[in-house]
Amino acid sequence: FTLPQVRNEEMLSYAPGSVERKKLQEALAAMRARLEKDGPFEIPVVVNGEQIRTNDVQTQALPFEHKTKLATYHQADAATIKKAIDTALKVRPEWEAMPFNDRAAIFLKAADLLATKYRYEVMAATMLGQGKNAWQAEIDAATELCDFWRFNCHFAAQIYADQPIKNSVTTWNRMEYRPLEGFVLAYSPFNFTAIGGNLVSAPALMGNVVLWKPSPMAMYSNYLVFQILKEAGLPDGVIQFVPGDAADIAKDAFAHPEFAGLHFTGSTGVFKHLWKQIGNNIDKYKSYPRIVGETGGKNMHFLHNSADARNAAMQTIRGAFEYNGQKCSATSRVYVPDNLWEEYSTVLTQEMKKLKQGPVDDFSNFTGSVINEQSYNKITKYVDAIKSGKEPKTKVFLGGNASKKDGYTIEPTVILTENPHATTMKEELFGPVVTVYVYPADQYEETMKIAEDTTPYALTGSLFAQDRAAIVKGTNVLRNAAGNFYVNDKSTGAVVGQQAFGGGRASGTNDKAGSGLNLLRWVSPRTIKETF
Ligand code: SER
Repeated sequence: FTLPQVRNEEMLSYAPGSVERKKLQEALAAMRARLEKDGPFEIPVVVNGEQIRTNDVQTQALPFEHKTKLATYHQADAATIKKAIDTALKVRPEWEAMPFNDRAAIFLKAADLLATKYRYEVMAATMLGQGKNAWQAEIDAATELCDFWRFNCHFAAQIYADQPIKNSVTTWNRMEYRPLEGFVLAYSPFNFTAIGGNLVSAPALMGNVVLWKPSPMAMYSNYLVFQILKEAGLPDGVIQFVPGDAADIAKDAFAHPEFAGLHFTGSTGVFKHLWKQIGNNIDKYKSYPRIVGETGGKNMHFLHNSADARNAAMQTIRGAFEYNGQKCSATSRVYVPDNLWEEYSTVLTQEMKKLKQGPVDDFSNFTGSVINEQSYNKITKYVDAIKSGKEPKTKVFLGGNASKKDGYTIEPTVILTENPHATTMKEELFGPVVTVYVYPADQYEETMKIAEDTTPYALTGSLFAQDRAAIVKGTNVLRNAAGNFYVNDKSTGAVVGQQAFGGGRASGTNDKAGSGLNLLRWVSPRTIKETF
C-alpha cells in the first residue's frame, strides 16, 4: 500500500493576534449568532443516509452557561435501532469488498477536511458543548482526531502487509484479514471528540459496519464529525448515527445474533454492566463478540526525593486541572516526599492563583465548568465530606469552592491527606480535584507498593525523579499501576503515533487506541494455504 507519509497534525498556538485565534473566535461568534437566531441545532438519527426524527427529543446545553441550549437531538427507538442494524448488515458485503486503499482514502480525506475546512467549527462545537478551552479543543478535536484517522490507516496497512514468511515450493500461504462477521456497536464519551471519531472509525477502516451511540453531552461535535466522514465519501450505512438511551440500545443490539463487537469508552460501572449483558446473551451469537473498552482511572504522580519539585508541581496543575480533570488520564492522586513538600506546595499555591474560570470562549479562562449537574453533585459531595471533617486526617489545602449559578463550576482543588487510603486517594471523582499524600522520603519503595494497589484502576501514571536508580526502581515497582507510564511528565496528553493509549485492570482491556493492537481486534483473520 502506498499511503501518504504519516505525520501528526501540527498544533497551532492560538497566541493573541494569531490568524488561528481570529478564525476560532469568528467560528465561536458565528455559532453563537446562529443559536441566538435559530435556536439549538437539531440533530436527527441517521440510518443508511436517512435522517430520522423520533418523538423522543433531548437537549445538550453549555456546561458553563446551562441556560443556553446548544442542540436538540432525536433518540432512536427500538424500530430505528433495528433498522440501523438491518441496513448496516446489508451494506456490509460491499464495504468489506472495497479495497483497503479506497477505505483508507475516506479517512485520510476526512482528516484533511477537518484540518483545513472544518477545524474551527468542530472546535467551537467542542468548546461550547463540552466546555473545553481553545487549547484543549485543539489537542482533541483538531489534531488528535486527524491523527487517529491518519495513523489508523498507517497501522492498518502494516497489518494487511503482515503475511506468512514461509512457503514450501508447492504451497502459497497467506493471511486474509477479514472484518468481523456482523456489526460493531460503539459507545463514545463526552470528554474527547476525537475518541468518538476513533471508536467508530477504527472498526470501519478494517471493513466493519458500526452503530455509533454518541454521548448526549458531546452530541453536536460528534454529529459534525459524522458529517465530515460523509463528505469524505463514507458510504451510507457503514456508520449509523444513533443517539439514544444507552440501556435501550444495548438491549436491542446485544440480542442480535450478528452483534460482533463493542468499542467503548466510558465508566467502569457501565462497561461491566454491558459486558455482563453480552455474557448473558452469549448463546445467541454467531461469533464470540470482541469487547474493547477504556474505562475509569485514578492516575498518580509519584515523586521521588530527587525530583525537580517545581516541574512536578507544574505538571500536577496541568495533569489535574486542564479540562477540569475530566480526562480519563487526569492526575488525581500525588505522592510527595516530605523533603520536597515545601517547595512543591509553594509552587502549587502561587501558580494556582493564576487559574481563571469562566466561559471558555473568553480565551483568558483556564477552565469552564464540569460537564453537568450530576457530575457537579458527585464531585462536590466528596469535597464537602472533607470540609465537614468526615474524612479523618484529610483537609482541603487549596480551592474547594463551587457554584452552579451560571455553569457547574468547581474551583481547582487540592486535598491534603495523611492517609494513603483516604477515599479521594482511591475513588475516581472525574473533576478538578487532586489529593496529595506526603510520605517520609526514606519510604520510597514502601509507599510505591501502597500506591500500586490502592485503587482498582491502572490507566496512566507518572514518576518524577532525577536519580536514575530511583527511575529504574519506580518503573519496576509500579509495573502494573498504569498502561501509560510517564517519567518526568504529566499523566495526560498521549499523542497518537507516539504514545499508544490504554490501561489494564479496571481501566480497560488495554487494546491501545491509536495503534495496530486496537485495529487487530476488529479483524477475524483467515489463514489460507494453497497447494499448487
Ligand atoms: N488520550 C488522552 C490523554 O492521554 C486521554 O483520553 O490525555
